[in-house]
Amino acid sequence: MPKDMLNLHDFTRDDLEEILLRAAYFKKKDGKLFSSLQTKTIAISFWEPSTRTRLSFELAVRKLGGKIISFNPGISSEGKGENIKDTVKTLASLGADALIFRHRIPGFFQRIAQSTGMSLISGGEGCYQHPTQALLDIFTLQEKGIDFTGITVVMVGDILHSRVARSHFYVLPLFGAKLILVAPPVLLPPALVPAGVERSYHLENVLPAGDVIYFLRVQRERQEKGLLPSLGEYAVLYGLNEKRLTLLKENALLMHPGPMNIGIEISSRALKRLESSCPQRTLFREQVQNGVYVRMAVLDLLVAGRVV
Ligand code: CP
Repeated sequence: MPKDMLNLHDFTRDDLEEILLRAAYFKKKDGKLFSSLQTKTIAISFWEPSTRTRLSFELAVRKLGGKIISFNPGISSEGKGENIKDTVKTLASLGADALIFRHRIPGFFQRIAQSTGMSLISGGEGCYQHPTQALLDIFTLQEKGIDFTGITVVMVGDILHSRVARSHFYVLPLFGAKLILVAPPVLLPPALVPAGVERSYHLENVLPAGDVIYFLRVQRERQEKGLLPSLGEYAVLYGLNEKRLTLLKENALLMHPGPMNIGIEISSRALKRLESSCPQRTLFREQVQNGVYVRMAVLDLLVAGRVV
């Protein structure tokens, strides 16, 4: 296994299968406390907001018996002018064996990966990648009995700004799935679409093809001024509403990495109807729950056995 998880391209299908198998083991043994990180100190440092990723990484470290150094950039010496490079050196000096991070600007951690003994594990980097999110999505689908060969995943939303999409560009085809991207043209420039992946600007045209419909959050915080003229218009053209529910395959599964903008990506009425009539088809809660086991597996395989 590589020392770091900054993107999924560094991992072969066998590596990823091993992580998924380990995650399944941890889920099966849920409630048991493990000790594989007993001698390890894990720094968790998120320079961008997070609820699911950060908390599930924290829980994963605790379930494996590790110690956490929690670094909060908002109340750190960065406020006194210390730069990120020195912050990382400080965390290493404090004895951290791994650093789990989220940062707005991608690339810094890739540059220091060779020179630090710490495992660097991404919890999402700007618009670059979100490796553990894509892995937990794969895990959640495998758990539902999905055989990826021959299935179609329709991914709809803010592709331009999505690190989740960029991790899936690699991993979904690697597992054999066909990927169709759909978004307004401003959020889906042709240059972004990898070879072998299809694109569409019309949700109605592609919804009936999807075995899995994966909604991406419209990242209001990353929209440059004027890029998306109106969220209301987005919801009308690309949101899942009650009428569009009728276009879905009978057993199509619905996923969203969260947090969800209800009323934009999915209307509250469509969501209520799905949750009352076919809750087994909405995987949002399972995605969050499975994040803990997948992150346990990543820490166990990348950090636990490594001598720094
Ligand atoms: N899916 C995801 O990354 O959620 P958070 O931003 O809450 O971590």
